[in-house]
Amino acid sequence: MVRVTTSTADFWHHYGRARATSDRAVPGTFYWSWGQDAGPGPEVLGEVTGRCVGDLGAGTSRHAAHLAVHHQPARIVAVDASPAQHAMAADLYAHLAPRLRIVQSDAVPHLQAMTCAYDVLYSVFGAVDFTDPRELLPAAAAALKPGGRLVFATLAHYLNGAPAQPDATAADIPAKTPDGRTTTMRRWVLQEHVWTKLLDEAGFTDITVDVLPAATGGPRTADTLLVSAYHPS
Ligand SMILES: C[S@@+](CC[C@H](N)C(=O)[O-])C[C@H]1O[C@@H](n2cnc3c(N)ncnc32)[C@H](O)[C@@H]1O
Repeated sequence: MVRVTTSTADFWHHYGRARATSDRAVPGTFYWSWGQDAGPGPEVLGEVTGRCVGDLGAGTSRHAAHLAVHHQPARIVAVDASPAQHAMAADLYAHLAPRLRIVQSDAVPHLQAMTCAYDVLYSVFGAVDFTDPRELLPAAAAALKPGGRLVFATLAHYLNGAPAQPDATAADIPAKTPDGRTTTMRRWVLQEHVWTKLLDEAGFTDITVDVLPAATGGPRTADTLLVSAYHPS
């Protein structure tokens, strides 16, 4: 295994690439579950029409494109650090500007530059999973308006079935460099009470965690934690 230490390798170069060549449509559905096939949808975000919404780790921006077309936010900002994901998102959905704004940035500095700007922030197995929560969650709290809401979907356990961490510890999980070499990257797979404690420490209130069971069995299926919290009014 090759351990890549440079911070510039884009580990998301391959993700979603095959689909981006064959499916250019704005999705008609929005799911939180790992399987993207069942369970609750955008209603979990609360009211988004006319609001300022941010997708943290948006990938190719399919969820954000759905919201832009079907729920009319005033603005939805799809933030992703990966140059490859940003390029694919722009190729697929740049025509949805100005309602949809596709931004290439690490979520943390983006949020730190957007104090009290957002009504709703969300992440679908996105930046929340791959960024130190002690940095990301306080930045998200500061970027939300009073009363704003953060919702995220994250793994309830590792994809090999191993239990989530009992404390705020990341694991090294397999990844691929753009040229196909195997490496690792950090992922935070945390138990419900750990997310609740981290959110509480970041200043969030009314924290709820729901478990969405995988709709099908088999390898690489997973249960989802759907976490919701508010920035105090
Ligand atoms: C598993 S993909 C999910 C993408 C999208 N949310 C979806 O459901 O298809 C994770 C994404 O999070 C992005 N990401 C991870 N950490 C990030 C960070 N700190 N800031 C911005 N994007 C990040 C990656 O670049 C990648 O596109």
